[in-house]
Amino acid sequence: MTTRSTSTLALAAATGLALGLLLPPARKALMQAPSLAAQDWIAGLTAEHRIVQHAFQALLLTDSDDVRRRKLLLAKIAYALTKHGVEEENTIYPALFAVQPTEAKRLSDDHVGVKRAIYALRRMPADDADWLPTAEAFSHEVDHHIHEEEDEIFPRLRDALTAEENRKLAAMLNWEGFKAA
Ligand SMILES: [Fe+2]
Ligand SMILES: [Fe+2]
Repeated sequence: MTTRSTSTLALAAATGLALGLLLPPARKALMQAPSLAAQDWIAGLTAEHRIVQHAFQALLLTDSDDVRRRKLLLAKIAYALTKHGVEEENTIYPALFAVQPTEAKRLSDDHVGVKRAIYALRRMPADDADWLPTAEAFSHEVDHHIHEEEDEIFPRLRDALTAEENRKLAAMLNWEGFKAA
């Protein structure tokens, strides 16, 4: 790749980032509000976990004749998990790799599984007989991941860091969430 095309790409990326940050600031602030309001980074991520779990509960109550609602709820879950994934993958998981590398790798692999599950559900007709069982299995995998993070791995990471390091991590996490919102 030439230097010129590289710098054009860099400029396009920087412009895209600037536009992404500037265009809907009120919406971004609103979407990041539950995490910003939390006392620490675990509380912020836990609030986001609950939003996803509530959306899954509603999704699993849908019938095959309510395709529109299924697609809407799946879009809500996909959006929330994508933003959440960016926050964790760009801040918490890198910190985790330094102290719990096996767990960090496992959680990262789970996030790849989330993308594959969303992709599979989007490709499948929402009135297909397999759609709801697939969504239910996905929901259980997300629940398991959430429990691991909240009950074991994240508290151990927080305890391994200083108060100042935890404050920095929370600030970084909120900035990532604001960008991704
Ligand atoms: Fe996660
Ligand atoms: Fe999480």
